[in-house]
Amino acid sequence: MNRIITLDEFIIRRQKDFPFASGELTGLLRDIGVAAKIVNREVNKAGLLNILGTAEVENASGDAVQKLDLYANEKLIECLKNSGECAGVASEEIEEIITFPTVNDKPSKYVVVFDPLDGSSNIDVNVSVGTIFGIYRRISDTADSCTLADFLQKGSQLVAAGYVLYGTSTLLVYSTGRGVNAFTLDPTIGEFCLSHRDIQIPQRGNYYSVNQGYYLKFDVDMRRYIDQCSDMNLRLRYIGSMVSDIHRILLQGGIFLYPNTRKYPQGKLRLVYECNPLSFIVEQAGGKAITTQLERVLDLEVHDLHQRATIAMGSPEMVDEMKAFVEKYSGINLPKD
Ligand code: AHG
Repeated sequence: MNRIITLDEFIIRRQKDFPFASGELTGLLRDIGVAAKIVNREVNKAGLLNILGTAEVENASGDAVQKLDLYANEKLIECLKNSGECAGVASEEIEEIITFPTVNDKPSKYVVVFDPLDGSSNIDVNVSVGTIFGIYRRISDTADSCTLADFLQKGSQLVAAGYVLYGTSTLLVYSTGRGVNAFTLDPTIGEFCLSHRDIQIPQRGNYYSVNQGYYLKFDVDMRRYIDQCSDMNLRLRYIGSMVSDIHRILLQGGIFLYPNTRKYPQGKLRLVYECNPLSFIVEQAGGKAITTQLERVLDLEVHDLHQRATIAMGSPEMVDEMKAFVEKYSGINLPKD
């Protein structure tokens, strides 16, 4: 039998690979692991606790907020605030950043961004949801409180990112820029155990993932590309929870698309909380992530915490093909004369 490697053990081992690491990032990742277990506990017994359904508030993006979103949001904030390793957070559920006081007068180098429960329309019907997170090193002076600028860094500046998928089993997937590893929660011992080492996304796959219900709301070049996916007999899978759709593609290959629509001319998904952390993971696994206007997602300027972006991400050959297709049919990147 292979020896079990727990998330904590793995994180500590990795820290030893960096001779000057101070342990703060290690601590932060462990705290996120703890928060994930707490959220997982509630997600699993949600129906029993009467906390399903919509809370009477809207989030910063104007969507109805589910009660479990609020719970997950609170737990993440609580765990990160008490850890002493985090200077502040930005959450998809909150308008402004939250700055934390120092713990034991020890300044923190990092800030964390997260979507506490992504795919909230799935909560009430017992379909997979997820938590997405990203960690940035502060650019502000660590002697003072963190500032908005710390959170508005490009995705290429992420120090670490990951997600937790509350699905048939609960998985924590993360990267610190040296590959992607996944840990499955063993509920009998309450530990995340290494289950997928050094994930490599397949060069191509059989799946495409897009809300085909919006087909007529997409630009013509995107409609044509989707027609081509269908012509090539790719299988359409769309869960409506980005974490779940991306997880399938990470393991089995394919392409995920959320283009601009008439309702969302900039795209629907949030750059800071969804697109950047998941692009970081996909790139670390050998995949690609671009907007449907063909810019690399991780290179996008971030002006606003709740900024939206379009996205096409997944297997590298498929993203390249989509890019070539759009260039050909939309005229993007063609010589001017
Ligand atoms: P939310 O967490 O507000 O439910 O958003 C979910 C996101 C993302 O996870 C998913 O891929 C997408 O929105 C689904 O949006 P549509 O329902 O518009 O397809």
